[in-house]
Amino acid sequence: MKNYKQIFRGTAFTSKSPKEIQILKDHLFCIQADGSIEKIVAPDEPDYQLLLDAYQDKNYFHSLKEGQYLLPGFIDLHVHAPQWAQSGTALDIPLYDWLNTYTFPLESKFADLDFAKAIYEDVVSTLLANGTTTALYFATVHKEASLLLAEICAHKGQRGLVGKVVMDDPQQNPDFYRDADTPTALADTEEFILAVKELAKTTKQGVYPVVTPRFIPSCTDEALKGLGQLAAKYDTYVQSHCSESDWAHGYVKDRFNKNDAFALHDFGLLRDKSVMAHCNFLDDPDAELFAETGTAVAHCPISNAYFANSVIPIAHFHAKGVEIGLGSDISGGFSPSLFDNIRQAVISSRMLEDGVNTSLPAQERGVPGSRITVHEAFYLATAGGGESLSLPIGRIEEKFAWDVQIIDTKLPSAKLPIFDDKEALEDVFQKILYLVRPENIREVWVQGEQVHSR
Ligand code: GUN
Ligand code: FE
Repeated sequence: MKNYKQIFRGTAFTSKSPKEIQILKDHLFCIQADGSIEKIVAPDEPDYQLLLDAYQDKNYFHSLKEGQYLLPGFIDLHVHAPQWAQSGTALDIPLYDWLNTYTFPLESKFADLDFAKAIYEDVVSTLLANGTTTALYFATVHKEASLLLAEICAHKGQRGLVGKVVMDDPQQNPDFYRDADTPTALADTEEFILAVKELAKTTKQGVYPVVTPRFIPSCTDEALKGLGQLAAKYDTYVQSHCSESDWAHGYVKDRFNKNDAFALHDFGLLRDKSVMAHCNFLDDPDAELFAETGTAVAHCPISNAYFANSVIPIAHFHAKGVEIGLGSDISGGFSPSLFDNIRQAVISSRMLEDGVNTSLPAQERGVPGSRITVHEAFYLATAGGGESLSLPIGRIEEKFAWDVQIIDTKLPSAKLPIFDDKEALEDVFQKILYLVRPENIREVWVQGEQVHSR
């Protein structure tokens, strides 16, 4: 008899391709000690009854209740952890003013580790409670507080990828919130990378350092070059904002006479482990460069509706071979929930296709082929995120990490409208994506360990 760490019995939904889901009805999921899925067994396989007979009385055998379903944990590819403190507020002005008026003053307070601890503890717990098992975080310019965020992820069991933010240009950043100078920004980044790599050794799920120039406007050429070199030296992840707003996109064009994508590439910042947030104004050569270098897009649909007045053409980028995942962009996006971002991704794409609010005749409005289905948005939040990070996460599949959320559709206080026990599972899946609230997320597991329950 094999020594499994956990066995789950239940029905799971996972992406087969961007457009299709796979429904694993009443399967067994056998998890090994390292937290990965060793074996998935269907009811018609001979092993099924043998496994049930051998294990169903063990305390590590979990049978999902009627009305409960498994989904892969979500992967949030773009979160500003410090901005959780202002989520839901301060969205009344354009990006550039928003940064200077609200965001930089808030982020500057993370020099105080007690302040940082309260917010970082809460944002990590909140994301876990919303089903986010992996998050790619921007912290702040402060090395110590950024390390604290990585420690909190390690401790709470979330797979956290964390960046100490670099903003070294004294011409572009306020004196109260920036790196002291370029050599300090690079030295702090290197120390941060080494400290997180040490911390990672103590975790089961992994935590990762991320080279993080905030965006081109906040960094000197020397810093961008040095960060590209550090990313190569330590083979780290890289994240930044790319072609987000008209203002940021235009600024880079004026400074380098090229788009963000090519400017970032010149500094060695587009790598297989790079994830660029927003990317609203990528043109075709930019998208092709992303595909060639393995750079992924973090699509942030709620935030884009506020700051960019834009919808990215998901289907077009997928056709060009670009990897895409979903990001909340807290607090440019107000919601910590990727369920909310899945919903907005679908709604925004339909508005792009239908060209709402123009005076053109109906047949001339919009961009044909822009719509995405809820299946595609689910793919972005799960498998697409895993591919973007090149990690075996985001799918309920053998060899993948047991990162899952258990959804209860029959909770008396938050019941989903499922009135027929024989309702098609495809419809149940769609109801889950559109109607689940945090109360319905009963358990969250990362790398075979339970990290949240309610
Ligand atoms: N561009 C540079 N910094 C930020 C930020 O904090 N949020 C967003 N949405 N865009 C940015
Ligand atoms: Fe952002």
